[in-house]
Amino acid sequence: MKTFITNSKEETIELGYRLMEKMPKDMKVILLNGDLSSGKTTFTKGIAKALGIKQIVNSPTFTILKIYQGDKTLYHLDLYRMHDVGTDFDLEEYINDRSGVAVIEWPHQVDELLPLRYVEVDLTWLDENQRKIEIKSIGDDGKWVLSL
Ligand SMILES: Nc1ncnc2c1ncn2[C@@H]1O[C@H](COP(=O)(O)OP(=O)(O)OP(=O)(O)O)[C@@H](O)[C@H]1O
Ligand SMILES: [Mg+2]
Repeated sequence: MKTFITNSKEETIELGYRLMEKMPKDMKVILLNGDLSSGKTTFTKGIAKALGIKQIVNSPTFTILKIYQGDKTLYHLDLYRMHDVGTDFDLEEYINDRSGVAVIEWPHQVDELLPLRYVEVDLTWLDENQRKIEIKSIGDDGKWVLSL
């Protein structure tokens, strides 16, 4: 696990970019935990940039899923309003797409659908421009996270 402090939205975008650049290529899922406005979608913008996506990434809050095509496919999920993920939604379809990366905001109830290896990011609002961002690699030794 490694903890970062960002002092602007640009720094959070940059951190998302670095994560995507360094993440082992066979990892496919990034979970983003954090309250409203903690920076989950902002972080996702950096991930999208690293995937070669040119479109603007916005919060998918009212749509659950947005799909962006770059060098790889980004499945951007927001499960905030999902109450029964297991029956409503086949998350595995996206997670198992080997050419894609799934980023999940509010990843409650997806535990049983997760692959063996994934990244968990916890974002905390510190003040108007400052966020604490903790990055954990689940299912491997996580050494690559230390070099972010
Ligand atoms: N250091 C920072 N990192 C990220 N965002 C920041 C930072 N400082 C200020 N902000 C602002 O905080 C807001 C973060 O919004 P964002 O949509 O990324 O949050 P979110 O966690 O996705 O919220 P929601 O749960 O509503 O989807 C943006 O308006 C952004 O400009
Ligand atoms: Mg969001």
